Amino acid sequence: MRPARLLLVGSVLADVRMAVPSLPERGGDRLATRTDVQTGGGFNVLVAAVRNGLPAALAGRHGVGPFGARVRQDLDAAGIPVLLDPDPDTDTGFSLTLIEPDGERTFVTSPGAESMLTGARLAGVSARPDDAVYVSGYELCYPDSGPAIAGWLDGLPEEALLVFDPGPVADEIPADLLAAVLARTGLLTLNRRETALLAGAGDPAGAVRALAARLPARARIVLRRGSRASVAAEADRPDRLVRVPVPAVVALDTTGAGDAHTGVLVAALGAGYDWPEALRRAGVGAAISVTRYGSATAPTAADIDAFEVAAGN
Ligand SMILES: Nc1ncnc2c1ncn2[C@@H]1O[C@H](COP(=O)(O)OP(=O)(O)O)[C@@H](O)[C@H]1O
Ligand SMILES: [Mg+2]
Repeated sequence: MRPARLLLVGSVLADVRMAVPSLPERGGDRLATRTDVQTGGGFNVLVAAVRNGLPAALAGRHGVGPFGARVRQDLDAAGIPVLLDPDPDTDTGFSLTLIEPDGERTFVTSPGAESMLTGARLAGVSARPDDAVYVSGYELCYPDSGPAIAGWLDGLPEEALLVFDPGPVADEIPADLLAAVLARTGLLTLNRRETALLAGAGDPAGAVRALAARLPARARIVLRRGSRASVAAEADRPDRLVRVPVPAVVALDTTGAGDAHTGVLVAALGAGYDWPEALRRAGVGAAISVTRYGSATAPTAADIDAFEVAAGN
């Protein structure tokens, strides 16, 4: 399937970001060496797709307030339409993001208007058969959004590709919602920590087998593993693993690396690249993103081409 649009059903929120020498100990404090506020969450995936030639739209809420205004401004500037009206009573939420010197990021998320999707609000959003629909685990954890999204997915056109990233809260997703969403997923993508939360801390082969059993036969699985080669598989052939090397780079900030990977991957499929080539471009795009300080730092398709030429590929 060649997606013609990425429709993100979920959260765009603010990242309140601080670079720290290390995480504070319990009861302690840290002086940040660098601080800023950027638009993040689902925005990272949307921007990665748009920069790689795939139109994108947000079926998610934003609020009225400083964070909501910022998010709206950045979405508008990126040319990403917002399909739902703003919430007049609540501001958009934020993620407190702590970035350590090796680039690892740790979050504490304060949900706001973006977490309050209801079935009634989603009823006005219709996915097209050639949409890739992106859902993250955050949404499934929220008491309104979780059941609303699961219900809405029941009416998804059969041809639409459901892309699911369980995210850092993978172990907090209600079991029934997780099972229902996995059973409809066409592309499951998750990082090492999330793989361990959902499938145990064993080797990738075991994780793929455990995850494949919960997915439709034609689904694909992508295990992102930071600086190590990613592992991909098809659910009906879980013993055939494809390893996708990751270029060696100096990681400055891994915030949004997985999101960059997913956005580039879906856009590359939309651009007509085959599965192995789309995976390779996603790995390169995400590696470039970690060399850039910020949340929505995915490169353009041209940046990825230039990197590949420079690397002699
Ligand atoms: N240190 C790194 N060096 C090179 N590429 C990286 C590094 N960390 C992440 N990446 C790239 O970003 C992708 C996603 O990062 P990962 O940490 O696995 O996901 P997440 O951002 O969800 O934690 C990796 O598969 C890889 O392509
Ligand atoms: Mg990571």
